[in-house]
Amino acid sequence: MNTTTATVTQVKRKSLNMVVIGLPGSGKGTQSKQLAEKYQLAHVSSGELLRSEMTKNTERAREIRVNMEKGTLFPDELVNSVLMDSVPSDNFILDGYPRKLSQTGVFGSVNIVFFIGLDGREAVRRILSRDEGRKDDTEEAVQKRLQAFEKETRPVVDHYRGLGLLHEVDGSGSREEVFERMVGEVEAFLNE
Ligand code: AP5
Repeated sequence: MNTTTATVTQVKRKSLNMVVIGLPGSGKGTQSKQLAEKYQLAHVSSGELLRSEMTKNTERAREIRVNMEKGTLFPDELVNSVLMDSVPSDNFILDGYPRKLSQTGVFGSVNIVFFIGLDGREAVRRILSRDEGRKDDTEEAVQKRLQAFEKETRPVVDHYRGLGLLHEVDGSGSREEVFERMVGEVEAFLNE
């Protein structure tokens, strides 16, 4: 009797070191969580880490609380120190970081940068209709966050476009539709 021996070869997947950029309310957090789950990546959200840190009884927490209510960007040293221990060297998704040119190249070697494009009015509508008790979800703070995006983060988008790493995705439509678009980009990258 002939015996056939099947040899199973495990092919190692390319590393996925991603950054997700977009206006406040564009869906960075929503999509990053799902992508992290699908591709088994460490999801590192600078906003979530800062919000968790600010509940502590420390001088750094006090500094974060004051900044957060204003809706302005935090100093690099503060954000970097909060993220320092959370970003692995490989297979991660950075949600909301970098958002200034001075923050590019600090963590890991990035190979996919998503920019979720969304009309500003829709982004504001989504933020103001969520009810999570965030201190920076007031009209005033949201306007500051939008201004910070245009001034500080838009140049980061251009920087990654210049490096050929940028994947622009339409952020309108349902959460599922946006997720499908992003997965399409990741799959194309993995199959290159
Ligand atoms: P961060 O928490 O990152 O806030 P943000 O960038 O303003 O973004 P949001 O969390 O508001 O929105 P999102 O794009 O993640 O969208 P989400 O998925 O939640 O940062 C907070 C602050 O920390 C910053 O303002 C800054 O001060 C500071 N900070 C953070 N990182 C920093 C850095 N690197 N340097 C300096 N300072 C830093 O979705 C929004 C809502 O819409 C949700 O309710 C969601 O359920 C809903 N939604 C999502 N997708 C859809 C859809 N397709 N259709 C309908 N609703 C949707």
